[in-house]
Amino acid sequence: MCGIVGVLSNHQAAPQLVEALRRLEYRGYDSAGIATINEGKLERRRAVGKLVNLSDLLVHEPLPGKSGIGHTRWATHGAPSVENAHPHKAGSVAVVHNGIIENFRELREEVAAAGMSFVTETDTETVALLTQMYMQEGAAPVEAARKTLDRLDGAFALAFLFDGEEDLMVAARKGSPLAIGHGDGEMFVGSDAIALAPMTDEITYLEEGDCAVLTRTSLEIRDENGELANREKRKIELSNAQVDKAGHKHFMSKEIAEQPTVIGEAVRHYLAQDGTSIELPDTDLDFTKIERLTMVACGTAFYACLTAKYWFEQLAGIPVEVDIASEFRYREPPITKGTVALFVSQSGETADTLAALRYCEGKADKILSVVNVAESSIARESDVAFPILAGTEIGVASTKAFTCQLTVLLMLALKAANDRGALDADAIADALSKLRGLPSVLNTAMEAEQGLADASRKLAEARDILFLGRGLMYPLALEGALKLKEISYIHAEAYASGELKHGPIALIDKHVPVVVMAPKDGLFDKSISNMQEVMARGGKVLLITDKEGAVEASEGAWETVVLPQVDPILAPILYALPAQLLAYHTAIAKGTDVDQPRNLAKSVTVE
Ligand code: F6R
Repeated sequence: MCGIVGVLSNHQAAPQLVEALRRLEYRGYDSAGIATINEGKLERRRAVGKLVNLSDLLVHEPLPGKSGIGHTRWATHGAPSVENAHPHKAGSVAVVHNGIIENFRELREEVAAAGMSFVTETDTETVALLTQMYMQEGAAPVEAARKTLDRLDGAFALAFLFDGEEDLMVAARKGSPLAIGHGDGEMFVGSDAIALAPMTDEITYLEEGDCAVLTRTSLEIRDENGELANREKRKIELSNAQVDKAGHKHFMSKEIAEQPTVIGEAVRHYLAQDGTSIELPDTDLDFTKIERLTMVACGTAFYACLTAKYWFEQLAGIPVEVDIASEFRYREPPITKGTVALFVSQSGETADTLAALRYCEGKADKILSVVNVAESSIARESDVAFPILAGTEIGVASTKAFTCQLTVLLMLALKAANDRGALDADAIADALSKLRGLPSVLNTAMEAEQGLADASRKLAEARDILFLGRGLMYPLALEGALKLKEISYIHAEAYASGELKHGPIALIDKHVPVVVMAPKDGLFDKSISNMQEVMARGGKVLLITDKEGAVEASEGAWETVVLPQVDPILAPILYALPAQLLAYHTAIAKGTDVDQPRNLAKSVTVE
């Protein structure tokens, strides 16, 4: 949520800031703005809507200066407007902010009582005003920023710039990630390393509570206790390919197409050298001791957990509870002895998931996470973090991260099954050989894209769409409905096929297309009976199945999409593909913004 950037550069700052913001735009795109120090004075340009509006503004009203800060916003306090857009400025201080200042109302009153007036509804303006207040009381810029930071409650990343201080920036992290980039006589700040990649590959990540004072040639970091802190400088390998569309029209289609490759990499990462067993990172995790697994996540990652519940229970015999992080954290569930908690998150920064993890600290036997961003808070606060190796995911609708999460969760379930004696070495070797073959199956499945695109043009005309699935296909139906509503704005709901008769069947008529996901597995006949019940009531069914399933059940269906045959335990990973492609092509047919759907942002760092 929101991306921030800062440069103390030897070049013009504005183009660098805009390029960095382009790379951060996935974090929010309600408005964007930059401030630079031009002839000693802070000046701003801000625009509502996508970054392109700010770029256009800068063409007509350029902003010179070699020091600057920038922001791309996902609105929390205050509607998207130029006034509410960052950077916020009070007197001689400008601030960009990602996160939420929880005690801003109280601080606002204090600042107002000191005679300072507000021009926005944002929590961030309070930060700028408080800093300005301390400066008016005689504090130097760095001291004023530090005093302000001491007063703030909440989760945030902040960067400060000051009038007349062309070689100074203050940056702080508490709850939201922040990276410092080292250049040659230049220094940079960004919400992630990708933003800084065109300028530098040498990065220092701030830790929780850190405050950094930057000049072009120096970096001083103090920890939450104000002590000088030594933070590692590391070289980051980020190819441009990770942030370019590589010839695709959208990041989402590029990321869908990347799945065979990244899933292959994830499988290889967890395979032992012999290729027939699973090797986990060095850990004292003992699957035989787990009495209960509690899995917690949000959105698509939550559906990955729901899928994994079937695997852990059926393959390894471990009882599993799955919860939405925002519910889990406030329900105060008892965590009994023998419980291992597992958190799944692409970004590793989702506020609710992180809070749920912290709730489990000291209660669960072990805290595990399955994450894409290795440097993230969730990864760092876990006892063991399992990377999913999906690479940077830019499209706001998660695709390759979901299938890589599934892949890694399946491998963990197989390992647990093996260690607990539920599956023998031959069964594991067999499953792994099928997993190794999955990238090629996924490539073949891409051949169904044209059929899915044709079906999507019909779906685009619907107002409501239902998704049905049984067993492992139920979470996939949920994911299909989420993907569709997220990017096409069509109302979609998913039900476990067996639940249809308990209410939702009343919705069926010829205007409501029903997507049925039903590979030819042990539950196929039951799924098809439910599908017949839909068709008997005039419902138009889009059946997604395999060759055998199509032969048996496609008669009477509105459309049938045929996927390759796979072992049922791998079906969720394969059936994610048509769920994603249906959403993608429906959005294209409707002309909506695929990569940056309205009201959403990629990394949800507020609750
Ligand atoms: C949907 C989507 C979201 C995320 C959710 C959790 O396409 O991307 O539902 O899955 O916001 O985000 P992470 O995985 O970063 O914790």
